[in-house]
Amino acid sequence: MVQLERLSTGVAGLDNLIEGGIPRGFFVAVTGEPGCGKTILCIHFIAKGVEEEDRCVYVTTEESRESIIRQASMFGIDLGKAVEKRRLIIVDALMGEESRWSLNYLDVEHLLEKVVEAKRELGYGRARLVIDSMSAFWLDRPVMARRYSYTVKKVLSKWDFTTLAVSQYAITTSEAFGFGIEHVADGILRFRRSIRGGVLHRYVLVEKMRQTNHSTVMHEISVEPGVGLTIQKPATITREDVALPPAVRRRIVSARRRAEEETP
Ligand SMILES: Nc1ncnc2c1ncn2[C@@H]1O[C@H](COP(=O)(O)OP(=O)(O)OP(=O)(O)O)[C@@H](O)[C@H]1O
Ligand SMILES: [Mg+2]
Repeated sequence: MVQLERLSTGVAGLDNLIEGGIPRGFFVAVTGEPGCGKTILCIHFIAKGVEEEDRCVYVTTEESRESIIRQASMFGIDLGKAVEKRRLIIVDALMGEESRWSLNYLDVEHLLEKVVEAKRELGYGRARLVIDSMSAFWLDRPVMARRYSYTVKKVLSKWDFTTLAVSQYAITTSEAFGFGIEHVADGILRFRRSIRGGVLHRYVLVEKMRQTNHSTVMHEISVEPGVGLTIQKPATITREDVALPPAVRRRIVSARRRAEEETP
């Protein structure tokens, strides 16, 4: 049997659900609603890469570089030091900032150029990339998502990147984002949430991981100071608990219909 090289996600419980980790070179979509742990997973993935001496690049469009470093420090992860030691480059796409590692406009080709420049700077070898989030790059062109995802994936695998690409559920254009990235992606890690008895519960489900005998059971997760994200017990909820409200679903369907009409 072929033994694939797998990269630990940095979350031991999650590795257990995917035969030890993400196959090298894979492009994995991380999707879900706000506040579910997507960014925190990305932080663990990069921290593990730093530990394993991979070349690490973190593109952040949602939060500033400082915010990511601060969030990581709450879990005992020192990304600032990794940047200083040239193990990690954080590319900030929040605009308005003129530095070598800032993106001045949200364009897929510009993103790829910057990521490749960062890889060159870090040097030859196994690399990890986080794009948090990908959605930002096609906010105004949702119908292009799939084509863009394909280009991004092709270029990145050439540069030996294993990638986590976050995509959000923006209600209005909703599935247009997910739609583009999810078919192209080699794997999908879906985060979900529900409120039961007045308490917020968060979950992760491995919806897809090519070449992997992955778990098909949704697991509850927790986020704790000093620890970060951990996988808890299998979820004991019904589909209805995590389903989107009917009004939202209706909007998604009509957005999808519009997107199909617009497809060139
Ligand atoms: N120090 C901490 N201790 C406990 N929980 C924390 C801590 N820091 C963050 N969290 C939890 O993690 C959540 C944020 O998770 P994260 O940033 O990964 O969400 P996300 O899925 O990336 O959301 P978005 O789509 O909005 O970016 C917070 O809302 C909070 O519940
Ligand atoms: Mg986030």
